Amino acid sequence: MPMIEMSRSDDVAVIRNLSVETFTQTFAALNTQEDMDKYIADSLSPDEIRREIADPDSAFFVATVDGVPAGYMKVNVGDAQTEKMPDDAMEVQRLYILKVFKRHGLGAGLMRAAFDMARAQGKTRIWLGVWEHNDPAIAFYKRFGFTQIGSHDFVLGDDRQTDLLMEAAVPAQE
Ligand SMILES: CC(C)(COP(=O)(O)OP(=O)(O)OC[C@H]1O[C@@H](n2cnc3c(N)ncnc32)[C@H](O)[C@@H]1OP(=O)(O)O)[C@@H](O)C(=O)NCCC(=O)NCCS
Repeated sequence: MPMIEMSRSDDVAVIRNLSVETFTQTFAALNTQEDMDKYIADSLSPDEIRREIADPDSAFFVATVDGVPAGYMKVNVGDAQTEKMPDDAMEVQRLYILKVFKRHGLGAGLMRAAFDMARAQGKTRIWLGVWEHNDPAIAFYKRFGFTQIGSHDFVLGDDRQTDLLMEAAVPAQE
């Protein structure tokens, strides 16, 4: 059996590599090279990742399989959230599993880590934005009790796209 671990991480290189690779695998076929390059240069630069890691209101979790980084998640509370939300909310801003590791429960493991952290911090809800056409991710989130509460714009390079806003309650006890 492979050894699967989910842990907090502040490793800039690991998080950046996972960020660029998973973003490319998920969106390259659907967007122009220019828009992809611009997003990666602006939003996934080592400096930007370093800044995000240093933010006390953000946390990164990395999933490893036999020690190999396979996916990651970024969560935000307080002012780090990408929308103004009340104090009892936590955002799952990014959750990405490398293609070869999908459908092995890693996404579920990271999502459980988000619920555990939210519960430990007294948060009562988790929210996130997901591209309106990302059907697999929407199916995954519904499985965790997320329902749509609205929508917001997401700018990829020069392209303005629509994200669905989804939210789930954090049960007081697992
Ligand atoms: C969405 C994502 C995070 C799910 O992670 P994963 O590790 O593949 O998912 P899991 O193996 O933990 O799946 C848990 C459950 O979610 C649901 N699910 C996961 N992928 C699904 C898919 N492609 N279609 C339908 N349901 C899906 C299933 O109910 C699954 O349980 P099952 O395998 O027992 O049927 C992953 O597919 C991913 O990284 N996608 C690309 C990046 C992305 O779109 N991220 C979200 C951006 S907002």
